[in-house]
Amino acid sequence: MKTDKVLIFDTTLRDGEQAAGTSLNGQEKLDIARQLEKLGVDIIEAGFPITSQGDFDAVRLIAKEIRNSTICALSHANDEAIDRAWEAVKPAKKGMIHIFLSTSGVHLTHQLKKSQEDVLKMAKKSVAHAKKYTDNIEFSPMDATRTDTKFLYRIIEAVIDAGATTVNIPDTVGYSIPSEFGKLIEGIFKNVPNISKARISVHCHNDLGLAVANSLEAVRKGARQIECTVNGIGERAGNAAMEEIVMALKTRNDLYQVTTNIDSSQIFKTSRMVSDLTGFIVQQNKAVVGANAFRHQSGIHQDGIIKKANTYEIMNPREVGVPASALVLGKVSGRHAFKERLIEMGYSLDEEALNHAFKSFKELADKKRKITDRDIQSLIGEEIRTTSEVYHLDHVGVSCGNHSMPTATVRLVGPNKELVADAALGTGPVDAVYKAINRIVRVRNVLTEFTVSSITEGIDALGEVLIRIESDGITYTGRGADTDIIVASAKAYMNALNRLLNARKATAQGAE
Ligand code: KIV
Ligand code: ZN
Repeated sequence: MKTDKVLIFDTTLRDGEQAAGTSLNGQEKLDIARQLEKLGVDIIEAGFPITSQGDFDAVRLIAKEIRNSTICALSHANDEAIDRAWEAVKPAKKGMIHIFLSTSGVHLTHQLKKSQEDVLKMAKKSVAHAKKYTDNIEFSPMDATRTDTKFLYRIIEAVIDAGATTVNIPDTVGYSIPSEFGKLIEGIFKNVPNISKARISVHCHNDLGLAVANSLEAVRKGARQIECTVNGIGERAGNAAMEEIVMALKTRNDLYQVTTNIDSSQIFKTSRMVSDLTGFIVQQNKAVVGANAFRHQSGIHQDGIIKKANTYEIMNPREVGVPASALVLGKVSGRHAFKERLIEMGYSLDEEALNHAFKSFKELADKKRKITDRDIQSLIGEEIRTTSEVYHLDHVGVSCGNHSMPTATVRLVGPNKELVADAALGTGPVDAVYKAINRIVRVRNVLTEFTVSSITEGIDALGEVLIRIESDGITYTGRGADTDIIVASAKAYMNALNRLLNARKATAQGAE
């Protein structure tokens, strides 16, 4: 039964981007925003403009491009931050300002060093200031779940009177449990006299693994907006996972009796894109989007699935856009078949990107007999990664073995399309490759993480390398895939270095 609508407020580009080790550039944020729009997200929280020029520019870029979703910018409760937030979202067809201010005793005493009355005044004043720009204002009493409830009711009433149209209840530190959080939402509905003038939203963190459960309980008690992120990425243990929320509301519509505007067939693709661009690998057994989410291992389960899928499957993998696991393409497959498969998988590449992807597909098919959808996703991931390169990896070769010094030669295409080659020795082949690249690119950085995994099974599987490097206190993620893991390692390093170089370029341009 469908009786009511819950809005999905996606904060992947703001709270998700706060996850340690994430740094997306403006173009990557725009790519994710476009995909979120396709997914049907109601509101995209695109960033926190006062915090940096890069964030401001990314929010503005997204606000100019996206037409169907509302674009929201986060702001402190002060005029300067609100002015900056509005300046960034102003070009949006539907813009929104999200103001947050701590309300819990622990935050007031130890962080803000302000009284409840001071905070109440600040909250009212800031909402009134935002009201000069837009009617679409959300207010979040930060750390609401550890806030004295009487004070919480007072501040909610005050901000609604000042013009807030959405009141968001954050479980900032992921402290609450479902029954308690549900009661809090119920209490707000009962005790805030003007509550019917605003939408109640919830924003749950996952420190105790309860973010999704808490959000769903809030829906049962009347919340009609959920703030969440793709793959549940976010500050510390992350935020409520969008895909879990959406599929729980859909699969258990008998209980929740609400709908969302999400096109669930876009979920898998969105999850892969966010994972590729942020470098946050989705765990194998992750609900809804993990590689094992629809795999059946035990004989009894396989038998049941063959007889009738819903014996052991509560959702159809097609419903969330999981590509068929059938082996699809091979060496003899033509451009047309490749393009058709991409369309079926939900990708629409322009002619140039398609030609390039097809060339990579052919190269892969020479090395690997059967190309699966997962391989194709990885190829497209490579396409996305190489679009904004400063240096491009043209050649890499290594010589190594138990009685020789690992030696690498690399050739890169530089910023002015020039070819630059160099060689280096290392403690191992990857170290030698990275040293040879460093001799050309020359940016100081420290490798902090290096992980290799296999994308599909078999000796000819694509190997995927994920790395993180740190430079001037900022972490940059890089990913690369190839049947040769040394080449994949080189691609991952180039990907991380290119992100670093692009970020520095953007900062330098912002300072001009
Ligand atoms: O977790 C939190 O409290 C937040 C606020 C800015 C809503 O992210
Ligand atoms: Zn948060």
